[in-house]
Amino acid sequence: MRNSIQKIQNYKKEGKKITVLTAYDYSTAKYIDQAGVDIVLVGDSLAQVALGYDNTTDIGMDEMLVFTRAVSRAVEKALLVADMPFMSFQLDKIQTMKNACEFIKAGANAIKMEGCSDFVIDNIKHLVQNGVPVMGHLGFTPMSINSIGGHKIQGKDADRTIDLLKNALRLQNAGCFAIVLEMLPLQSSQFISQRLRIPTIGIGGGKFCDGQVLVSDDVLGKFDRYKPKFARQYSSLKDIIFNVAKAFCSDVEAGTFPSVKESFTLNNEEIEKLENYR
Ligand code: KIV
Repeated sequence: MRNSIQKIQNYKKEGKKITVLTAYDYSTAKYIDQAGVDIVLVGDSLAQVALGYDNTTDIGMDEMLVFTRAVSRAVEKALLVADMPFMSFQLDKIQTMKNACEFIKAGANAIKMEGCSDFVIDNIKHLVQNGVPVMGHLGFTPMSINSIGGHKIQGKDADRTIDLLKNALRLQNAGCFAIVLEMLPLQSSQFISQRLRIPTIGIGGGKFCDGQVLVSDDVLGKFDRYKPKFARQYSSLKDIIFNVAKAFCSDVEAGTFPSVKESFTLNNEEIEKLENYR
């Protein structure tokens, strides 16, 4: 059975850190889930790391849903959260609800939305009141890259940190069950986390957040278009993939792959018939 929202929220009261990793495909999701991560996030970061787009604004509902279904088939224990893509929730209540429900039908237990405009807050209230759990996302919000003007640290001084706290409280009051805090000084996210009832999940938010999220392709060392300062790389999957592909090519070229053990064979009687064929 998958983790419940209540269980994740209790972690904050118990002082237990919440672990979150993104996943986009069946097999990565399966092993991340088996490793015991608390939440699997089908992040719209998949736009860049899995589909090669420039920005998360380039991905739409159809693509997000394909990956959410794949991940959902693998996840048994973690809570599954899916990102609502750009312009799928900045719509009227009915259309936003319809889009959110597509993710629930695809197997997600909750959805994540970036930002906290009045419009988004109203939509969050509507979703939560109608049984769709929502995770918020503040600080650097990748969908707003065009208005923010690049990957910039947010909450860089006391005033801006207080503004972020006010926004986080609005998300909490609207019914969000947790909030991602992206690219904030660690003292700013500490200040915010201590004043919220719901858990904060940091990405570049420092150690005082109630949990941490990273993009799986960053931790695996598979995506190297850029390397965020806050991402810890635990392996170099890109080198493994490169070396395996090289070894495969040289085995095929040298005629050492496939071996007889890696082939299907006829029995001697059938071989003889073929040999006697005129
Ligand atoms: O899309 C994503 O992977 C995210 C995380 C960075 C939190 O939103």
